[in-house]
This record gives sequence, C-alpha cells and structure tokens, in this order.
Amino acid sequence: MFYICSHWAIRSIRRLWPSLFAATAVLIMALSGSLSANHGVTNPKVQARVDLMTTQKAALTLLSEMASTRRPFDRSQARAARKSLEKTTSQIPKRFRRPHRDPHSLAKAALWHNWDDFKARAKRANTAVKELNTRSLTGLRRSLPAVIQSCHACHDTYKNPGHEFTTH
Ligand code: HEC
Repeated sequence: MFYICSHWAIRSIRRLWPSLFAATAVLIMALSGSLSANHGVTNPKVQARVDLMTTQKAALTLLSEMASTRRPFDRSQARAARKSLEKTTSQIPKRFRRPHRDPHSLAKAALWHNWDDFKARAKRANTAVKELNTRSLTGLRRSLPAVIQSCHACHDTYKNPGHEFTTH
C-alpha cells in the first residue's frame, strides 16, 4: 500500500490516500457478502431487492479491485460497472417501496417509517455514482470512496448487521 502511495503524483492525494484506502478496504470487507446471495429468503419481492444489492456489490467489488490495483485498470470495464451502479442505485426506492417481509431479511422496519430519509440516502448513492470518474485510475481512486460511504451511510441506519462478512 505504501509502495503505491509513494508513487502518486498529486501531493494532496498522497496525503489523503492512506486513510481513504484503509477506510475503503474495511468498508469493502463489510460490504462483501456471498456471491449468490440467498440466505434462506423465500419471499420473491425480498429476494429481488437482495439481488439488486448483490449486483451493486459485484460492480463495486470490480471498481475497488481496480482502485487497489488487484485488477488492472480498464476504462470500459470501469464505465460499465459505473453504469450498472447508476441503474441499481436509481432502482433502490422502487424495490423497497412496499414493506415486504421475510424472516431472513436484514432490512430494518425503521426504513418504512422514514421513507423520505431512505429515499434521500438512495439518491445520495446515485449522485455519488454519477460523480464516479472512470476515465483514469487516479480519478477512480479519488471518487470511489464517496460511493462506498453512501452504501454504508444507508446500511448503518436501515440494515441489520449480517451477510457482509461471509466470504465464501
Ligand atoms: C438507501 C439505502 C441503501 C443504499 C444506498 C445501499 N443499500 Fe445495500 N442494503 C440496504 C438494505 C435495507 C439492505 C437489506 C435488504 C434486505 O435484507 O431485505 C441491504 C443489503 C445489502 C447487501 C446484503 C445482501 C444480502 O446478501 O442479503 C449488500 C451486499 C449490499 N446491500 C450492498 C450495497 C452496496 C454495494 C451499496 C452501494 C453501491 C448499497 N448496498 C447501497 C440498503 C441500502
């Protein structure tokens, strides 16, 4: 990590990156669930919103791998991932509008009592995704943390802990 940092051209980024990188790594760990996310959910409407989240996670994982150079930076793949995230984040309100229940759902009931706030958080995630710079590795590194933070800002409030740390 420090090896990479030492090669960064822009001084401000050099100062900021170690902490952003560490935070990103932790958040990615927190966000990554299993690839085929079916944790016993039987309600198809609940499964649909879990699927949406799983798709987001896949796109975010790809971008994070590029940002950390675990995967080579590829502009068109990065753009495709951004487009995928743009679509999924815009669909969050639609998928969650009705309070569908399932014993295996991790959604907190508070979500539906604070619908406007939930929608605002989805909107913020969508805005952060639109501001993702996928033209260069530096741009991606600079703009990705805001997206990850937007995922977490909502999870911290409206999602019960779980499914994030399963890595199988
Ligand atoms: C506006 C709120 C909100 C935003 C923004 C949000 N999520 Fe979620 N997410 C949820 C809720 C609520 C659940 C729990 C859904 C359920 O279990 O019914 C969830 C569940 C998940 C899960 C667990 C799925 C499973 O296996 O059960 C993953 C992974 C996930 N989100 C990834 C992301 C990623 C990546 C982002 C950002 C790109 C993101 N989420 C943004 C609200 C949000």
